[in-house]
Amino acid sequence: NSMLSWQRPAFHFQPEKNWMNDPNGPLFYKGWYHFFYQYNPNGAIWGDIVWGHAVSRDLIHWLHLPLAMVPDQWYDLNGVWTGSATILPDGQIVMLYTGSTNESVQVQNLAYPADPSDPLLINWVKYSGNPVLVPPPGIHPKDFRDPTTAWLTSEGKWRIVIGSKINKTGIALVYDTRDFKNYERLDGLLHGVPGTGMWECVDFYPVSRTEENGLDTSINGLEVKHVVKASLDQDKHDYYAIGTYHEKNSTWIPDNPKIDVGIGVRYDYGMFYASKTFYDPDKGRRILWGWIGESDSEFADVQKGWASIQSIPRTILLDKKTGTHLLQWPVEEVESLRLSSNEFDEVEVKAGSVMKLAVGSATQLDIIAEFEIDKKALDKAPESNATFSCSSSGGAAERGALGPFGVSVLADETLSEQTPVYFYIVKGHGGSLKTHFCSDQSRSSEATDVNKHIYGSSVPVQHGEKLSLRILVDHSIVETFAQGGRTCIASRVYPTKAIYGAARLFLFNNATDVSITASLKIWQMNSAFIRPYPNDKN
Ligand code: FRU
Repeated sequence: NSMLSWQRPAFHFQPEKNWMNDPNGPLFYKGWYHFFYQYNPNGAIWGDIVWGHAVSRDLIHWLHLPLAMVPDQWYDLNGVWTGSATILPDGQIVMLYTGSTNESVQVQNLAYPADPSDPLLINWVKYSGNPVLVPPPGIHPKDFRDPTTAWLTSEGKWRIVIGSKINKTGIALVYDTRDFKNYERLDGLLHGVPGTGMWECVDFYPVSRTEENGLDTSINGLEVKHVVKASLDQDKHDYYAIGTYHEKNSTWIPDNPKIDVGIGVRYDYGMFYASKTFYDPDKGRRILWGWIGESDSEFADVQKGWASIQSIPRTILLDKKTGTHLLQWPVEEVESLRLSSNEFDEVEVKAGSVMKLAVGSATQLDIIAEFEIDKKALDKAPESNATFSCSSSGGAAERGALGPFGVSVLADETLSEQTPVYFYIVKGHGGSLKTHFCSDQSRSSEATDVNKHIYGSSVPVQHGEKLSLRILVDHSIVETFAQGGRTCIASRVYPTKAIYGAARLFLFNNATDVSITASLKIWQMNSAFIRPYPNDKN
């Protein structure tokens, strides 16, 4: 449907057509990044799930490859579901994935490349002894899925976890194996949190407390913290927490029980789900992939013939300043798409004003923005005990003493459609400041069949830090990173007027009591090459 074709992103990964969900088994092999994904070859809604496959040299430009695995065995007849890759020390690749059997039981299966000398890893073989794991006693047959990448124990065994639930407690079951064919279930759990429901796509990995590089999954020791992430089926958000892994009893303890997995911080406060990290040995970094769905109607998706995209891959580091957060940042390779830029240096934006930023076309942008608030006005501003939250607020149109201020993307000339991304500061009793970071979809489109949420969260701001945003705009996607990636919001927006050459960019300050100074650098972004496989018969 050409009416909707402008929505198609230009530099985010997606298949040529049809439905996509979770990232699967990302890995680096013989100079190529491999990306697999949950895919419906038959339509733009979830179903008939197979593994799609694509390769890239730089995580930005992609070549689609033939489907890697399809349901062709009793143990995955209802779907080749999510899984993860492990690279053994000798370079061998082991893939573990969930099969939904002919009776819709969730089992774990082993697969490996048919020809390890093929850098494109086109053909995959399923192990003849599959399934290698079935739901253990006490676990519902439909609550046992999404094996992690394996890591080594000090005894030299490989350890994995698998997400599940018992009553309403989300849990991570632990298994050890030497050969990926025979497994031993360990007593207890890696972790579990009451009230969080089914844990999908659990991820577990180390982050360095001292270094600015990523760590391979088996790294452990005093210089390391461990992250547990669960995708909560009950609210479709990815929650993580930072804590300590105790190898001996195969458990993990959060640093702060108040921000445990599922009740504390999220990777992203917009749409971002079923994510998975992998270690990139080439550049010594850990990279996060996340599924960004649609927030229009299923009807519109069928009209478009496609649904979902993947986030720009994000490098992951521990935020050493807070200790409670991770820093997520678009991989540096995305900067190779930057074309011409415009700079706006220390622009004063008075309370209650809006300014157009003349950058030309505004559908493919990379924006870096920094904001400083007038100190005297900040000191004078009244205290309010407002229990502000982005999602329950009136959005960017609602004025407060110290916010909102930020950038409106995918706006039309008259601002009848716009997606404001902004900060909103609240001064509490005793003068303490709390900064909120929001993305307001409420006026993003005149269409009526799209979600118009106001997304957001509070974001920790350390002493001496300026407020900062990085925004990637790609047609119907707005991915925003506040404070260096401490808090992120990805959203989908479907304007009807602010499209193609009609899309504009604005700077605004809708606070009543404070003026701000903004500095921005804005790049036009090139499109990525995301190419079909030469002999594709689809
Ligand atoms: C998460 C998920 C996984 C499952 C897959 C099926 O979105 O539900 O738990 O393996 O998608 O497509």
